[in-house]
Amino acid sequence: MRVLTIIPTYNEKENLPIVVGRLRAAAPDVDILVVDDSSPDGTGQIADDMAAIDPQIHVMHRTVKNGLGGAYLAGFDWGIEAGYDVLIEMDADCSHQPEQLPSLVEAIRNGADLAIGSRYVPGGKIENWPLHREILSRGSNLYTRLVLGTKIKDITAGFRAYTRDALQRLNLDGIDSKGYVFQVDLAWRSEQAKLKIVEVPITFVEREIGASKMTGNIIKDSMVKVTTWGLQARAAQIKKLLGK
Ligand code: GDD
Ligand code: MN
Repeated sequence: MRVLTIIPTYNEKENLPIVVGRLRAAAPDVDILVVDDSSPDGTGQIADDMAAIDPQIHVMHRTVKNGLGGAYLAGFDWGIEAGYDVLIEMDADCSHQPEQLPSLVEAIRNGADLAIGSRYVPGGKIENWPLHREILSRGSNLYTRLVLGTKIKDITAGFRAYTRDALQRLNLDGIDSKGYVFQVDLAWRSEQAKLKIVEVPITFVEREIGASKMTGNIIKDSMVKVTTWGLQARAAQIKKLLGK
């Protein structure tokens, strides 16, 4: 199985070498694609320097900051084109511990189409998150569960492995979620497409260096999108009940 880890970056110049070094040590067979949105702090150059001395590291430079979703979609296209069997999403700030990545690959090996590194299944943990972040995260998971009726416990999670086949079945061209809601969008599509989804417990560790890119607008965008999908799903159910 050829495995590619996609790492989106925006101003992660100090974190990137650390996370890449840890990943190369923990999973030497896994290739890496850094997707940088022209970070003003020079993260893209640092990625290029690493790629110059390590053929398993690749870099995609994008000209505008286009959100987490846009970066991952571009990364998936690249990875599918390059023939990878498994595509992994991972943050650059070491919140997702590279040492836990093999357990996601293992879940795929055991038959999952999508393996989610989950904070909210037994064994899952969060370290050093300020209370307001944990409330926001648990609150949005609860809201999403109520509105969409999803069974996924950590639907906003950003540490995941997809098979190429799964991604190809999800109609990625139809996705317009640019921000962090992209994660919910893809999980919800996967659930509706009846993919085999497995949640693997992880320990999420809050970043020590740099700042989160989460904003109020990203949160608002997520609320609006999730609510809309929920209403659409209800409307479809009612239509079915009425036999139309
Ligand atoms: N290329 C690119 N473009 N990368 C981005 C962008 C962007 O517009 N926005 C964020 N990133 C990168 C960051 O540099 C980092 O590597 C990763 O995406 C996650 O960003 P953070 O800002 O550190 O996210 P967080 O810690 O607040 O959020 C975490 O929790 C969310 C809720 O559970 C992440 O795990 C998210 O994936 C998750 O949805
Ligand atoms: Mn983070």
